[in-house]
Amino acid sequence: MTQSKSILVVGGAGYLGCVLVEELLNRGYAVTVFDRLFFGDGGLSRVRDRVRLLTGDIRSMSPTAMQGVAAIINLGGLSNDPTAEYNPEANHEMNTVATRSLAELARSQGVRRYLYASSCSIYDVGVVDEERDVLLNEDAPVQPHAAYAISKLAGEKELLSLQDENFSAVILRMGTLFGFSPRMRYDLVVNTFVKDAFLRRQLNLHYGGQMWRPLVDVRDAARAYLVVLEAETSLVAGQIFNVVSENYRISELALRVREALRSKGMDAEINAQFQYAGIRNYRVSGRKISSRLSYKPVVSVEDSVKDMVDKIRDYGYTDFDNDRYYNIRWMKLLEHVKELIDITGTIFDTPAPKPVLEIQGRREFA
Ligand SMILES: NC(=O)c1ccc[n+]([C@@H]2O[C@H](COP(=O)([O-])OP(=O)(O)OC[C@H]3O[C@@H](n4cnc5c(N)ncnc54)[C@H](O)[C@@H]3O)[C@@H](O)[C@H]2O)c1
Repeated sequence: MTQSKSILVVGGAGYLGCVLVEELLNRGYAVTVFDRLFFGDGGLSRVRDRVRLLTGDIRSMSPTAMQGVAAIINLGGLSNDPTAEYNPEANHEMNTVATRSLAELARSQGVRRYLYASSCSIYDVGVVDEERDVLLNEDAPVQPHAAYAISKLAGEKELLSLQDENFSAVILRMGTLFGFSPRMRYDLVVNTFVKDAFLRRQLNLHYGGQMWRPLVDVRDAARAYLVVLEAETSLVAGQIFNVVSENYRISELALRVREALRSKGMDAEINAQFQYAGIRNYRVSGRKISSRLSYKPVVSVEDSVKDMVDKIRDYGYTDFDNDRYYNIRWMKLLEHVKELIDITGTIFDTPAPKPVLEIQGRREFA
């Protein structure tokens, strides 16, 4: 694309970001990460001395972060249903409003390309609508009903409305990611299976696991960003691409994960619940990106699971119950801690003298 090889990765300290940043560095890019560091910067420790790390919020980013940048990759904001539903207003601000404001900032600073991490969950049709339970492509009409997917679709529209000949907006609608990342998440379906196998030797299926889900390994997803970054402008400008390796019913997925675990000496039972639960169900075609950009995902679920088991063991990501691996639990914990710190102040710093505060009513430190 452009001469400059400087890339700004917003949300680059997250699950996908940490994998993508390494790929970008390996390809010779200069990388700036801009991140609120909700989950810390530990996932970047292997590359910490090779990236410029800026901390801040996407809702109030300074233009200086964009100076000299050729392309921005926006992976920031709330990244799943439960966190979006926990605070729909913040979700809208981060996933929709900030997607636009970052694009306006980028355009004003001469950034040429903007890649936006969207989600295949905007295709969700639920289990009730069997007529729409078909393989959907980028042209399919969509009508998301969950806060997260609504905010992603709205973010796409905001970004695409700013597309012009000097500024290429590109949308990557990713399937559910799986695989190891140095900033690990155990709240994604395949990773949850692996975590449950470690903890309880059990893989749990809701609603009999009959729902479809498009999936892609996190390294394959990172490669998709590189392919889009390096593609001719005419092939990607203003385009939407699904990034999907395979679509599986969750029940088949569990069988595949179980087989892969067996080859690693781990036995797990499949435990199916059949009562209705709020579930997502959609199947998505990844044909457009493979035919237009010659991109092909190469990592199977089975290989990814085996790799995950090795790395979880090797790097000690075995504190499975740590809230940090589960976005909604971690965000609730941070909110709770903030409430307490607002009352107590930090523990070891000597506070400046101030009038004694009388607390009205009873406060629970639960
Ligand atoms: N993980 C998946 O399965 C998946 C699937 C489809 C789409 N996506 C999208 O891909 C992107 C990356 O997902 P992920 O799994 O790496 O998520 P993640 O939650 O692990 O990472 C998100 C990163 O963004 C940062 N961030 C969040 N809000 C911010 C704000 N207001 N200002 C600055 N930084 C902020 C966080 O600190 C974190 O480092 C997200 O946009 C997500 O919606 C993810």
